[in-house]
Amino acid sequence: MKVLASRRFPGPAWDELADVEYYDGPLVAQRPDIEALAVVGEIIDDRTLDLFPDLRLVANYGAGYDDVDVAACAARGVAVTNTPGVLDAATADLALALILATRRRVVEGDSLVRAGRWGTDWASTTLLAQEVSGATLGIVGLGRIGKAVARRARGFDMRILYMKRERLPEVEEHELGVEHRLLDDLLREADIVTIHVPLTSETELHIDERRLGLLHDGACFVNTARGAIVDERALVQELVAGRIRAGLDVFADEPNVPAELLELPNVVLTPHLGSATRETREAMTRVLVDNLQAADAGRELPNPVYPS
Ligand code: 8YV
Repeated sequence: MKVLASRRFPGPAWDELADVEYYDGPLVAQRPDIEALAVVGEIIDDRTLDLFPDLRLVANYGAGYDDVDVAACAARGVAVTNTPGVLDAATADLALALILATRRRVVEGDSLVRAGRWGTDWASTTLLAQEVSGATLGIVGLGRIGKAVARRARGFDMRILYMKRERLPEVEEHELGVEHRLLDDLLREADIVTIHVPLTSETELHIDERRLGLLHDGACFVNTARGAIVDERALVQELVAGRIRAGLDVFADEPNVPAELLELPNVVLTPHLGSATRETREAMTRVLVDNLQAADAGRELPNPVYPS
């Protein structure tokens, strides 16, 4: 099976594929010889699919597959797979890192030391922060990553609220130590809100201006999911006003970050690092290759995704 890939994916599993061609730049030429695409972040829509009449699989490197038009693929009999599961821990770790960095003003402290502005006053109040331990955490989306965040938050003695379309069975709520809330109530009540829903037509701009306005003064908003779930313009306004704090790993138009955010002390910015550890990225390649190999051998695909 001939695979067209946008890059070499990290780790040894990638070398198991016998027939890979790399592309660099926009796809424009017809390629009837290509049976599988291995992609990350590239837009796969009807226009792209027109170029690959014999395509059987779009293998997406990542759990989120919002750049792939799954319905358009399904209409042509092209399967789509993703790489879920293996990145839950790394993404949850980063959410916690952003919560800690934002609440405890870690980046501001780092800048102060580097700038030689650390005075001798040990009791300085300039960087007094907000407690993480014991705070109320609101998790929007309690799938695999959201649950991994909840387990970590328990280590910080947090009270944990969650919003999920389908409420968990009571036993599971009890095991995880989480309380269900409707979204608006969660936003009102939480000291820290962290987003863990996929980007779909339903969740796009779901956290809009009105909902951001429900966050209490001084609340901390963390996003390691997708920028487009939030009305970014409204989020920027809240941050410029200094009303809330944020830790942001994802943006609506990556790699572009709203210029206003770059100078703000109340926001910590990272460049979509959720899954960016060596171990996790290599494990994602393993899953990507498992799916490509299954398609090649005509076996059941381990991680198919379907139009919603
Ligand atoms: C990145 C992710 O897409 O899995 C996801 O949905 O957002 C990340 O894993 C991937 O790491 C490539 O940048």
